[in-house]
Amino acid sequence: MWNGFARLGSWGTMGTMRIDLTGRRALVSGSTQGIGQAIATELARAGASVVVNGRDQAKTDKAAEAIQQELPSAELIPVAADLATVEGADALRQQAGELDILVNNLGIFGAKPVLEIDDDEWRRYFEVNVLSAVRLTRMYLPGMMERGFGRVMNIASDSAVVTPLEMVHYGVTKTALLAVTRGFAKAAAGTGVTVNSVMAGPTHTPGVEEFVNELVDDDLPWDQAQHQFMKEHRPYSLIQRLIEPREIGNLVVYLSSEQASATTGGAVRVDGGYIDSILP
Ligand SMILES: NC(=O)c1ccc[n+]([C@@H]2O[C@H](COP(=O)([O-])OP(=O)(O)OC[C@H]3O[C@@H](n4cnc5c(N)ncnc54)[C@H](OP(=O)(O)O)[C@@H]3O)[C@@H](O)[C@H]2O)c1
Repeated sequence: MWNGFARLGSWGTMGTMRIDLTGRRALVSGSTQGIGQAIATELARAGASVVVNGRDQAKTDKAAEAIQQELPSAELIPVAADLATVEGADALRQQAGELDILVNNLGIFGAKPVLEIDDDEWRRYFEVNVLSAVRLTRMYLPGMMERGFGRVMNIASDSAVVTPLEMVHYGVTKTALLAVTRGFAKAAAGTGVTVNSVMAGPTHTPGVEEFVNELVDDDLPWDQAQHQFMKEHRPYSLIQRLIEPREIGNLVVYLSSEQASATTGGAVRVDGGYIDSILP
């Protein structure tokens, strides 16, 4: 049911690069804080109605309220569900309905020596970081393909291509997401639906701020602490600062747009040039 010719016709009306997501419905998994909340905010700022998600209802409501305060006319739908489980994904679908934009942002990370990661921990990382994205994509992709428009994004990381010794299990799940992305993009070929990975680099989230303060003198003011951290621990970063979550959100907004119709099946970097490679 390739009906791309009809869509090629829409190029003429595509217009300039003013991204307007009005009328689109998005879900950002794991969006009660950090990068997920910033992505949800930027999608809402661009006009999409956004399903905000976390495991706890009160925290999810609070995150949606914070976005609402910044963007009073935004449509936000807080849905608490544990997306690492089948039940959670089913419950979310019941409440969220169909989607045009799916952002699989949910991801856990933590340092552990590779020889000490047991089978249960490997399984947990796979379930939360990979299977949650696979399950939601399987759930929403057919509807998107049928309607002839959809955007799926999997939030990966520089760790997908530079395996971090201190969290090999995390790196492996992010590598897997790149392949999952490619596979689902092939399944959606010619339908108007795109599937991409977003490779985020070291980002200024509360967890990373704590990590920075552990590694450098925590009496330093934030800007200097960040500068020292980048110089000593992330020397390959070309921007020599942490990425702000909103900058990840901006790339997601672009990939969610109609204008990004020829970008699919790949990994797009928003890593501050951190990966020392021409290709991802
Ligand atoms: N931070 C970085 O520097 C960095 C760099 C590259 C890539 N990334 C990737 O970016 C993504 C977000 O990272 P982050 O640092 O912003 O994460 P974070 O601050 O730890 O936030 C994780 C979010 O996921 C939610 N969550 C956790 N388990 C969940 C579950 N089972 N079901 C539903 N929601 C769940 C949490 O909400 P509740 O606690 O309310 O449930 C929270 O909103 C991850 O995929 C990460 O791998 C991060």
